[in-house]
Amino acid sequence: MNIILLGPPGAGKGTQAKKIAETYSLPHISTGDILRENINNDTKLGLNAKSFMSRGELVPDNLLIMIIKERLSRNDCLKGFLLDGYPRTIPQADALQMILTESNNKIDAVLNIEVDDEELIQRLSGRRMFSCGTSYHVIFNVPEKEGICNSCKGKLYQRDDDKAEAIRNRLAVYKKQTQPLIEYYQKKGILQNINGAKDISGIYEDIMRILEIYD
Ligand code: AP5
Ligand code: MG
Repeated sequence: MNIILLGPPGAGKGTQAKKIAETYSLPHISTGDILRENINNDTKLGLNAKSFMSRGELVPDNLLIMIIKERLSRNDCLKGFLLDGYPRTIPQADALQMILTESNNKIDAVLNIEVDDEELIQRLSGRRMFSCGTSYHVIFNVPEKEGICNSCKGKLYQRDDDKAEAIRNRLAVYKKQTQPLIEYYQKKGILQNINGAKDISGIYEDIMRILEIYD
């Protein structure tokens, strides 16, 4: 099963992706996590990406296409994959289609999580991260022990792009560059809209009902 999670920043893509990937034993490929890992490791890619990300801008398509091509070529993707945060532009979606066609593969479903702007701002401004990539929320999704991650026991931090100005920019960038993908995948007949206004488990149940069709 090859799945794309689409939706604005803060919609809950990462939160749901973690659960779906566990349930179906799929590799969870988050381009945001890959880029943040490169920044932490001071790689050339990380250095290139850092200023775009902290401003809430998209990192150039050529870099993302290179990342995704390499990642999808690994063996763990042979039985399927879950993309979180890619594609984010039409050229990225076209490149993905080319990469998959070359290996006789295709996307089965695009899950589009819909959430209004006011709720997105609340989710992003209250988000706290741990070094393992798990995200929590100061009100909506607190760890079992305050300040300690349920899985890695690592250090809590706030993402640079979860500050007010970067959040505003990310939402504007989403509307201009990523939202057109909804129509792109609707035309291909593989888009599934998900009501993202529910709580985390309610959304997860809806997603499970949809994915049963493809399993
Ligand atoms: P990325 O890391 O992908 O960030 P994003 O799209 O901005 O999305 P987020 O991670 O902010 O939100 P999410 O939907 O994963 O929400 P989450 O589950 O954490 O990308 C970061 C940057 O990298 C980009 O801005 C860009 O610069 C660059 N980049 C990455 N991919 C790229 C690409 N393909 N092309 C170009 N550039 C790229 O949840 C958010 C919060 O809400 C959490 O606190 C969570 O606990 C809480 N929450 C989740 N669900 C619920 C719920 N149902 N109710 C209440 N709270 C909830
Ligand atoms: Mg995310």
